[in-house]
Amino acid sequence: MSFKTFKNNLLNNPLPFNVVRSILLAGKGRMYKELRNAIAPEKDSKVLDVGSGTGEFALLFDNSIDYTGIDMNSGFLDYASSLYKNQNKKFIQMDATKMSFKKSEFDISLLLSFIHHFSESDLDKILKEVNRITKKRIFVLEPVPRKYNILSKLFYALDRGDFIRKKEEQLRILNKYFTVDSYKEFKSGLYTLSIIQCSSR
Ligand SMILES: C[S@@+](CC[C@H](N)C(=O)[O-])C[C@H]1O[C@@H](n2cnc3c(N)ncnc32)[C@H](O)[C@@H]1O
Repeated sequence: MSFKTFKNNLLNNPLPFNVVRSILLAGKGRMYKELRNAIAPEKDSKVLDVGSGTGEFALLFDNSIDYTGIDMNSGFLDYASSLYKNQNKKFIQMDATKMSFKKSEFDISLLLSFIHHFSESDLDKILKEVNRITKKRIFVLEPVPRKYNILSKLFYALDRGDFIRKKEEQLRILNKYFTVDSYKEFKSGLYTLSIIQCSSR
């Protein structure tokens, strides 16, 4: 079995996925804080989390927010559904390249640690759809390559995404479908992460 297959099999399970991320980021506090400050949704907002995984980011929203997470991994969806049962949160199995939501159905869409899993041609489908179903704002969280740090390079190899892109590439692709309003980078453990705030067109 190749390292890539082993890594993907392991990280398709909720517990290893969450533990590996905690180690790589040296805890998740900074990431949560940055996202909370950036998103700050108005009460009663409808939020879509595209590729919601184990529901890591659903905890950013209280019950005044109508939260929907979509993902393809049924194990992740079951884990998230049981974690947040009795809250204003639903987790649905849906392919982000073929979403069945109405135009402007959500106030806010989240693409968190998601777009580096896709080639540009897949992203063309996904981002076009996200623009269609989002009324106001889109938030992107992405790893940014660290050039000269060998240890970081080694740990980035643990990420399952094959398309970790430089800032300029991230912005070029997002600009095709959204208006990019702000870009911020911060360091967390061995990762540098970007938060990109966009508006739908
Ligand atoms: C790195 S994980 C990020 C999960 C979550 N956003 C987080 O940061 O914890 C990427 C997620 O995208 C999901 N995914 C991959 N392809 C997808 C697709 N076509 N449609 C919906 N979800 C997909 C995977 O199952 C995985 O849960």
